[in-house]
Amino acid sequence: MYQPDLLKDRVILITGGGTGLGRSMALRFAELGAKLFLTGRREEPLQKTADEICAAGGNAAYASCDVRDPAAVEQLMDAAETEYGHVDTLVNNAAGNFIARTEKLSANAFNAVVSIVLNGTFYCTNALARRWIAGKTGGNVLNIVTTYASSSSGSGFVVPSACAKAGVLAMTRSLAVEWARHKIRLNAIAPGPFPTEGAWSRLMPTKEFEEHAKNAHPMKRFGRHDELANLAVYLLSPLAEYVNGECVTIDGALWLRGAGEFNDLLAVPDAVWETMEKSRK
Ligand code: HXC
Ligand code: NAP
Repeated sequence: MYQPDLLKDRVILITGGGTGLGRSMALRFAELGAKLFLTGRREEPLQKTADEICAAGGNAAYASCDVRDPAAVEQLMDAAETEYGHVDTLVNNAAGNFIARTEKLSANAFNAVVSIVLNGTFYCTNALARRWIAGKTGGNVLNIVTTYASSSSGSGFVVPSACAKAGVLAMTRSLAVEWARHKIRLNAIAPGPFPTEGAWSRLMPTKEFEEHAKNAHPMKRFGRHDELANLAVYLLSPLAEYVNGECVTIDGALWLRGAGEFNDLLAVPDAVWETMEKSRK
């Protein structure tokens, strides 16, 4: 549906770009002509994804970075600019999440998730926007949130993530207004369930819960990565020039069926939680 060179000459930095949905977006953006700069903490998945893009004839480079560290984020932006001269687009996709009974969470557990999702998004966004404002170039930001952020419902059992993603959504909308005069556009995507190793290993406690989640879905299926990647393409492309401060939900109407994606975990008995907690230790 898209022109094959829709994203030609664009330079897109994706956090968490080596795995899962970040990887799928990176591959699709590269297919449409964009140059990619990938980041995350682990080098191996970054290298693999970058190699895959280059092998297919695209352009990709990467650098490891923990987005919780603002100085490391500045170095990351320097590295991306050294590679390509200029970065015009940022996708804040990196995240941390897990299911837990909230009363069992340590302060460190809460902070780990909030620092990646909320602080990390702020550090990356501000680091690039300062450059865009100084250079009068404009820029484009896409934040990957969750339906329990955009529906304002939150969700039990993923409280650090719900708090952080709601913050990212507030950041998206606030900055869309504040920075429109600098030609910086910010939007968000709120995905429903899209199978990835990272999410499934942390959020699907059992095969039975996964089956339950699928059967309870209005469309009786999870999302496909290409569906999300193509939405991201649209929002970042010139086709969406007048879309600003928006959050597009892509979940097959799941949240409309019942807010709070993980609230069904209320059915998990304490004994099962205790087994999961022990196995983690
Ligand atoms: C309770 C937990 C926990 C769990 C970790 N902690 N896992 N507490 N239940 N399952 C606690 C630890 O005990 C520790 O607290 C603190 O959290 C930090 O843990 P570390 O392992 O030291 O942190 P770190 O290595 O920085 O790892 C961060 C992480 C990890 C968030 C905990 O899961 C991670 O790296 N995640 C990145 C990828 C990811 O989460 N992908 C899924 C995104 S999916 P103490 O007090 O012991 O020190 C998503 C989609 C949502 O967001 C919607 C899906 C449908
Ligand atoms: P994923 O593969 O685990 O993606 C998370 C990525 O973030 C990983 O590449 C991870 O790489 C990176 N990351 C984590 N902590 C980081 C840090 N401190 N610094 C830099 N990078 C860090 O899971 P996913 O499912 O694809 O999730 C991608 C995005 O979609 C997330 O924002 C998630 O909240 C959102 N989402 C997913 C779903 C779903 O169903 N899959 C639903 C709703 C929203 P390292 O571990 O190497 O750092």
